[in-house]
Amino acid sequence: LHGDRVVILANREPYIHERGEDGAVRVQHPASGLVTALEPVMRACSGTWVAHGSGPADRETVDRDDRIRVPPGEESYALRRVWLSREEERGYYYGFSNEGLWPLCHIADTRPEFRVADFRQYARVNRRFADAVAEEVTGPDPIVLVQDYHFALAPRMIRERLPRSTIITFWHIPWPNAERFGICPWERDLLQGLLGSSILGFHTQQHCNNFIDAVDHYLEARIDRERQAVVQGGRECLVRSYPISIEWPNRWAEAAPPPAECRRAVFQELGLGPDALLGVGVDRLDYTKGIEERLLAVERTLERFPHLAGRFTFAQLAAPSRTLIAKYRALNEGVERLAARINARFGSGSYRPIVLERAHHEPAAVFRYLRAADVCYVSSLHDGMNLVAKEFVAARQDERGVLVLSRFTGAARELTEALLVNPYDLEEASAALATALGMTAAEQAERMHAMRAVVAELNVYRWAGHMLADAARVRQRGRLSQ
Ligand code: G6P
Repeated sequence: LHGDRVVILANREPYIHERGEDGAVRVQHPASGLVTALEPVMRACSGTWVAHGSGPADRETVDRDDRIRVPPGEESYALRRVWLSREEERGYYYGFSNEGLWPLCHIADTRPEFRVADFRQYARVNRRFADAVAEEVTGPDPIVLVQDYHFALAPRMIRERLPRSTIITFWHIPWPNAERFGICPWERDLLQGLLGSSILGFHTQQHCNNFIDAVDHYLEARIDRERQAVVQGGRECLVRSYPISIEWPNRWAEAAPPPAECRRAVFQELGLGPDALLGVGVDRLDYTKGIEERLLAVERTLERFPHLAGRFTFAQLAAPSRTLIAKYRALNEGVERLAARINARFGSGSYRPIVLERAHHEPAAVFRYLRAADVCYVSSLHDGMNLVAKEFVAARQDERGVLVLSRFTGAARELTEALLVNPYDLEEASAALATALGMTAAEQAERMHAMRAVVAELNVYRWAGHMLADAARVRQRGRLSQ
């Protein structure tokens, strides 16, 4: 496998250019688990990342072919930007991807919206990106890595344009059971689109099983359960689980100041005294992340464990996300109201139990918080993996701090030394928060040590390595059977 033939297709770009108040162009790292995972992989294998050019200053920074070398100052791979019209973005990104597929795939009690016009835009944009991929490849048998639910139709479209390509598609979010999946009016199109892949990856075996069940329900295709593959018209698509991860050693953790310094700085920023206890949450403002449930768990903790009131502060870093969608705007307001209510109830003097920072935070700032905290609470109602949990572990070289983690994340399968909770169960979650805040240093170290070993080993290079090794085998089989 030669790195320079790898083309990644992902909606979100790894670097967003914007103009600062001083008029200078600045680069931002978007809040996206997909970007967190894939960016280090791209640095390592070079190639091209094809993405939506979404930044306000993106157009000013590309060359005539809409490309820019990144990362800034390192320039190890190419970013090819594709521009979308307002209608395309509305229908494809906000509409079908985020009002249709996102709630379809997550168990978070939000009804998916399926609109014909959105699906048309989705198909159109998938075609446009498939064309862009075809322009970026070199050689007749490239490796194309298609990422996530924005591009369910693209694998087949790429296959039509590049019949000999090896297409590895990774679905970064859960895949629902066949019954639920069937409520999507275009269930067959989506399945057929994805089956254009050579390999289709999910985080968990459960999601692979759900996908295969959906194929079984809705398509005439042969399922080879032994090989975990779907065979159609003589072509095979392997369906495998590859739990995603983060880079290790982690460059943000390496670059962050030592823990004591982070703690001093963050405590000062938040106006906390030396005896304060700090909890932290880091998310996009998304209803699947259980942010309201998290704040309610903090409230319940203060109710049940009065000695913590006045001492325990929970800082929630919440990056505004998908704000054109009504549900996200409502969440934004709901979270603000809730934080205000809890602060009014338990706050006194300068003490505020909840610090809600609704703004984008660059990774360096996020890592400072992760390193400063006594506890990190990841309370997703449903999450494919959740890389914040793994980033917290990476940030804690000091082997301190306790992770309280929702059972409904992919990460809970690997990080079994976290305090695992059901985020809907406020009794369990508040008890876990209190346990975390009272945990001895020795127990913290034992748990953190074990989790660090897991993330160090199952890092994102492993994830990519497993998929590429399977791809190499697929390619070899193809050659030998010619
Ligand atoms: C999830 C999705 C990613 C997406 C990220 C951020 O992790 O799986 O594909 O990039 O959320 O969401 P956004 O809509 O801002 O790209």
